[in-house]
Amino acid sequence: MSITIKTPDEIEKMRIAGKLASDVLMMIGEHVKKGVTTEELDKICHDYIINEQEATPAPLNYGNPPFPKSICTSVNHVICHGIPADKKLKDGDTLNIDVTVIKDGYHGDTSKMFVVGKPSILAERLIRVTQECLYKGIELVKPGARLGDIGHVIQTHAEKHNYSIVREYCGHGIGAVFHEDPQVVHYGRPNTGEVLQEGMCFTIEPMVNAGKRYSKILPDQWTVVTKDRSLSAQWEHTLLVTKTGVEVLTLRDEEKIPRVIG
Ligand code: MF3
Ligand code: CO
Ligand code: CO
Repeated sequence: MSITIKTPDEIEKMRIAGKLASDVLMMIGEHVKKGVTTEELDKICHDYIINEQEATPAPLNYGNPPFPKSICTSVNHVICHGIPADKKLKDGDTLNIDVTVIKDGYHGDTSKMFVVGKPSILAERLIRVTQECLYKGIELVKPGARLGDIGHVIQTHAEKHNYSIVREYCGHGIGAVFHEDPQVVHYGRPNTGEVLQEGMCFTIEPMVNAGKRYSKILPDQWTVVTKDRSLSAQWEHTLLVTKTGVEVLTLRDEEKIPRVIG
């Protein structure tokens, strides 16, 4: 395996797929409230992706065992890959919704945190710091930067707040294939790892725990939870390395960072 460099034609398709994935997150926000089930959120996203976007939800039947739903919904101490289910959301729950769509053969992958009602101070802070980790990573992306630089800035920011970085799951190259090279880990040392080049596409998607970094997989073989049952947060964007910096392919209007940096 090796890292693919996208052609201008592929980049245009990545832009479209990225925009659709971010649109799903914008659309679902108003449905996230007390009493709704994550299965209901899945159905709304599924129907929107298929019928309105005429796209494909990449998670559905992905992997082995096949993932049974169209989005991942990771509630409270679930780190990632939560399977939508019939349990109702309650006041104070925190929730990551992770959306990946395929349009015209290319993937857009993005996730954000939602809170139901009023979050605890701790939850609010964890969610904010995790988003800052993502943004600090994005800021470093440009030709010549190295993946270790990105991992380092993310790890440093999380640990400064006494949080921990999940190590078993990471960001990834993305394109015609959902998960391609390189692996983008959210910890590391400056001046190490892959050197970025114009035309690469990959995700950054830090998972940050309020407690220890350790995770375990539930018997459903997908749901990843914190071993110590501490809260976990995650944010994800799909990125393109441009000539001078980075383009955030899954940026939402609500975000206060520029789509093109550099
Ligand atoms: N969207 C996840 C990621 O960011 C992968 C989900 S795989 C699934 O890489 F099968 F659980 F959907
Ligand atoms: Co991803
Ligand atoms: Co994702």
